Amino acid sequence: MQTTKFLFRHASFSSLLRQTTHKRSFSYTLRTMADYKLKSVTSLSLKPGDKQEVEVEGIDGAKVLLVNAGGTIQAIGPKCTHYGAPLVKGVLTTSGRLTCPWHGACFNAKTGDVEDAPALDVLPTFKVTERDGAVYISGDEATIKAGRRKPNFKCTSTGAAAQQDKVVVVGGGSGALGAVEGLRNGGYDGPLTVISSEGYLPIDRTKLSKALLTDVKTLQWRDEEFYKSGSVDWVADEVTDVDFSDRTVSTKNGAKIPYTKLILATGGTPRNLPLQGFKVLGNIFTLRTAHDTQKIVKAIGDKGKKIVVVGSSFIGMEVANATAKDNSVTVIGMEKVPLERVLGERVGAGIQKSLEKNGVKFYMSAGVDKAEPSPEDSSNVGAVYLKDGTKLDADLVILGVGVAPATEFLRENKVIRLEDDGSIKTNENFEVVGLKDVYAIGDIATYPYHGPGGNGRYTRIEHWNVAQNAGRAVAKNIINSAVKTPHFIPVFWSALGSQLRYCGNTVGGWDDIVLQGSVEESAFVAYYTSGETVVAMASMGKDPAMVQTAELMALGKMPSKSELAKGLDITTIGPLEA
Ligand SMILES: Cc1cc2nc3c(=O)[nH]c(=O)nc-3n(C[C@H](O)[C@H](O)[C@H](O)COP(=O)(O)OP(=O)(O)OC[C@H]3O[C@@H](n4cnc5c(N)ncnc54)[C@H](O)[C@@H]3O)c2cc1C
Ligand code: FES
Repeated sequence: MQTTKFLFRHASFSSLLRQTTHKRSFSYTLRTMADYKLKSVTSLSLKPGDKQEVEVEGIDGAKVLLVNAGGTIQAIGPKCTHYGAPLVKGVLTTSGRLTCPWHGACFNAKTGDVEDAPALDVLPTFKVTERDGAVYISGDEATIKAGRRKPNFKCTSTGAAAQQDKVVVVGGGSGALGAVEGLRNGGYDGPLTVISSEGYLPIDRTKLSKALLTDVKTLQWRDEEFYKSGSVDWVADEVTDVDFSDRTVSTKNGAKIPYTKLILATGGTPRNLPLQGFKVLGNIFTLRTAHDTQKIVKAIGDKGKKIVVVGSSFIGMEVANATAKDNSVTVIGMEKVPLERVLGERVGAGIQKSLEKNGVKFYMSAGVDKAEPSPEDSSNVGAVYLKDGTKLDADLVILGVGVAPATEFLRENKVIRLEDDGSIKTNENFEVVGLKDVYAIGDIATYPYHGPGGNGRYTRIEHWNVAQNAGRAVAKNIINSAVKTPHFIPVFWSALGSQLRYCGNTVGGWDDIVLQGSVEESAFVAYYTSGETVVAMASMGKDPAMVQTAELMALGKMPSKSELAKGLDITTIGPLEA
């Protein structure tokens, strides 16, 4: 059978590129540069690390962010290109690294380039001049208004690298996104193939459980044209094996795709419950893809349903929060309080209370016994029974009981050795241990963690940013193997009534929490400590405390537990010197 491709191969790009070039020269004629006055700014007196959001006169509603990035004073787009957070509330180091206050995206404030996930588009930069007691920026109206621009992704795949390398990425999620954009933006101009079984281009997976979105077009980051412009050969197929000696990837549709560098980024497979009823009854769902949300939303139908969520970690809690308004939602969890393993008992209890206020019911310290069919339709679930005999009526059940690394296709492989949990062990550069030119990133990778408290311990981290940053790091390594992989602090977020932010990692354990503020009021900062070292932190309603912590951790300048216990407000430290 033929491998299905939903993007064109290189041959068909030439006509497209001709059109694109034509379009570009046309748009350049429209994009005339002009000077625009900044409202109420009379001089440029920012010190390194200072930033100021200002209005642009003459362009309705337009703003820019004035920055002093390592001595360069200029203006840049004012909003994060991920979800639009105001960057004036973020953290700018004296050398010009600008971190978004919400989910940790980092931009180079000198060039506007993305340095860390999850943002993809670049910030435009504008030259500033001071004259006659006023300050002006030079730019074209459309770019100033948009406040963002696409990265340098275009590629005709005719460069020198085409003779040497052929990069194949397996997977079409966050890790793949980071690798593909990192490669093209970083100047890799050789052949680049992505093989993904998901059935659509990379989407914002994190939104699935927060809003149960179903429309792939709304969820996807980039359209087909974008990948075509970068000569990315996107193959819709499932990889079934890899011949690491021959350097070929085999697919379900019978293709054999050669590589010189292979990036494995296959993510996770949600677990089911090995209990009576769960594998046979309908209306029991896991949640990983837009196909899953489509099924869940269909089963919820006109709302007013009894939904039982099994699992009180992030996916379960987000789904409960997203569905509670219009349905009757019950969460079953094995821990004493939800999210206890990650956030601890005090924080978990506070979050439980805030979800209870939204109508979610909890059965905690509870074990599930079985699922029983519905009396009206014996093919569908009708109730979930707990081990103590409690019966919870259910029109549908959503399982949030963890994921296993999606590496089944390598289980029988004679060359690669999977870890006990099915993951793949890598070094700091995400190169698979014992294999040359093969990388593993994202949810499947067990890698040595060097953040605070990590001491190189191996861990597997299921975060959107970790997968994407690992993809970016691999891209850098492929382009220039002499470049040391940048060390990044893991960041994740969740929507639980209020926005939860988290950074760091507890692979080395934690023994205490320093809590500032009130969890019940969704305004707190919790520092997870091991001895005097802060190894992780969680916050709600205290931006930019999380990203400030992540930056301080990355710089090795995080205050000690004792200092924080005395009430030190992390956001008062600065400007950070990097
Ligand atoms: C509902 C949900 C909400 C989340 N919310 C957050 C959040 O708010 N913040 C956060 O930090 N993290 C969140 N996460 C976790 C985050 O999405 C993952 O850590 C991240 O997607 C991992 O990226 P990845 O590239 O490793 O895997 P994925 O993004 O899962 O991508 C894996 C890709 O590989 C493909 N694939 C698998 N097997 C094969 C094969 N054999 N052949 C070809 N293709 C294959 C899959 O179809 C998929 O396209 C969430 C996860 C889920 C499921
Ligand atoms: S809005 Fe900036 S990282 Fe998400």
